[in-house]
Amino acid sequence: MQTITSIKNSKSKTPLVMITAYDALFASLFDKKVDIILVGDSLNMSFNAKPDTLSATLDIMIYHTKAVCAGAKETMIVCDMPFGSYTDEKMALENASRVYQETEAHAVKIEGGVERAHIIRRLTENSIAVMGHIGLMPQCVRSEGGYKIKGKNKENIKQLLLDAKAVEEAGAFCMVIEGVKADVAKEISKSVSIPTIGIVSGVDTDGQVLVWSDAFGFFNEFKPKFVKKYLNGAELIENAIEKYTDEVRTRAFPTTEHTY
Ligand code: KIV
Repeated sequence: MQTITSIKNSKSKTPLVMITAYDALFASLFDKKVDIILVGDSLNMSFNAKPDTLSATLDIMIYHTKAVCAGAKETMIVCDMPFGSYTDEKMALENASRVYQETEAHAVKIEGGVERAHIIRRLTENSIAVMGHIGLMPQCVRSEGGYKIKGKNKENIKQLLLDAKAVEEAGAFCMVIEGVKADVAKEISKSVSIPTIGIVSGVDTDGQVLVWSDAFGFFNEFKPKFVKKYLNGAELIENAIEKYTDEVRTRAFPTTEHTY
C-alpha cells in the first residue's frame, strides 16, 4: 500500500494511477489495484446528478469517504475538501480535522495555487497530508464562467509555474494538474520535486487520474475528448436490467433453481 512518503518518492518513476470512487462496492473493486482512490467532489455530478461540484458539502464528502474507506482497506484514500470548506486557515483546519477524525482517509485535496498556499501550509504544519490541485479548478466553474483549459498564454503559464511551486513549498505531497496544455503540464512537472497527477494535461505528468464513471462508460451524456472508455458500463447495465424485467414479467425468473 502506498504511503505519503512512497508517493513523494515516486516522482519520475512508474506513473501513479489514481481513480475516483464514491462508495464501498466500487472502492472494493479498485482496492490494491490503483495507487490512490480519490473521493472527489465530482461525486456531486456523477453520483448526485448536480450540474457542478459546488453544492457538495463536507458532510456529504465525509459520508462517502467513510464508505470508500470501508470498501478499500489497502489503498491510499484522499478526500476532496468541498467548495466553501477551506476559505480561511481556521475553517480549513477544523474541517480537514473532521475528515481525519471521522474517516480513515490518508489525506485531503485542496484546489488552489499561490492564493491557497497558506491554507495548505496550515494543514501540513498540523500533520494533515495535502494533495494540491492546480490548473482548471472545477470549484471555479461559476466564477470563471465555465471550464477553461489553462496554459494558453505566457502570463498564465508563469502563474501556473508559481502555483505549482507554492503548493510544493507549502508541503503538499503531490498535486493534481487538471486541464492544462500538455507542454505546460510537462514544464510544471519538471519544475517541482513532488509528483504531479494529470487529468486532461497530456502524457508527461507523474501519474493520471480519471473519474470512474467516465472511465467505465457510466456517464454517457457527453464524452470529453480526454476520457478513454475502458468499459461500456451503461450499455451492460441497460442490457441486464432489460433482461431482468423481461424475465420477471414472463415468469422466466425465478425458477426452482432460485427457490428454497
Ligand atoms: O473531484 C474530482 O473527481 C477531481 C478529479 C477530477 C481530480 O478533483
